[in-house]
Amino acid sequence: MALAAELSAKLPGSRLEGRNNRAAALAAELVFVAVPFASQAAVLGDIAAATAGKIVVDTTVPLVPPRVSQVALPPAGSAAAVARACLGPEVRLVTAFHNVAAAKLAADGDVGCDVFVFGDVEADRQTVIDLIATMGIRALHAGPLANSVAAEALTSVLIGINRRYKAAGGAGIRVTGLAGSADARGRQPA
Ligand SMILES: NC(=O)c1ccc[n+]([C@@H]2O[C@H](COP(=O)([O-])OP(=O)(O)OC[C@H]3O[C@@H](n4cnc5c(N)ncnc54)[C@H](OP(=O)(O)O)[C@@H]3O)[C@@H](O)[C@H]2O)c1
Repeated sequence: MALAAELSAKLPGSRLEGRNNRAAALAAELVFVAVPFASQAAVLGDIAAATAGKIVVDTTVPLVPPRVSQVALPPAGSAAAVARACLGPEVRLVTAFHNVAAAKLAADGDVGCDVFVFGDVEADRQTVIDLIATMGIRALHAGPLANSVAAEALTSVLIGINRRYKAAGGAGIRVTGLAGSADARGRQPA
């Protein structure tokens, strides 16, 4: 609640309110989950029933401190697989934002990188891509949930690059070769 008030002050015209996870998920049309891997299963388990039939966008990267620049995948194979197991088949699971540094999202202006969007249902990926486009960010269809592990693993690579090259704003990934073949909404030309 206090954070919602603080953010409202920073974002004039926004409608922000604080609720517990389950109440927020029940009230929501679409849910974003942005919690550390250590909290992912508990949070997703808590909101599973409340999000049946809804799109849940999970941003979890399975980082295991302190060696976060080394890829360490969970026994389930990926954070996406953990999410699917916690949420069950009724939830329309999409994963995204693994490779965008929080500092880029917090700053005004172009984030300068792409967002990979994973999900087993193309229409649900497109809904999320369209939503991300309203933030002025290009998001791309990156395939089924089984592919999410690739972006999850890349985050550790980017953290290592940030350290090595002192990339204060955070390194990101921009897909090249798409000129004319993907607009800001990730769609192919007709
Ligand atoms: N930071 C990045 O640049 C970045 C980039 C790509 C992907 N990601 C992924 O996005 C996710 C969030 O990253 P982050 O850096 O924002 O993490 P974070 O700062 O460590 O945590 C984000 C929020 O999660 C909340 N939280 C933790 N456990 C919770 C629980 N059980 N119930 C409710 N809220 C809980 C924390 O609330 P409290 O403060 O109240 O504890 C905190 O506000 C992670 O999985 C991360 O790997 C992050």
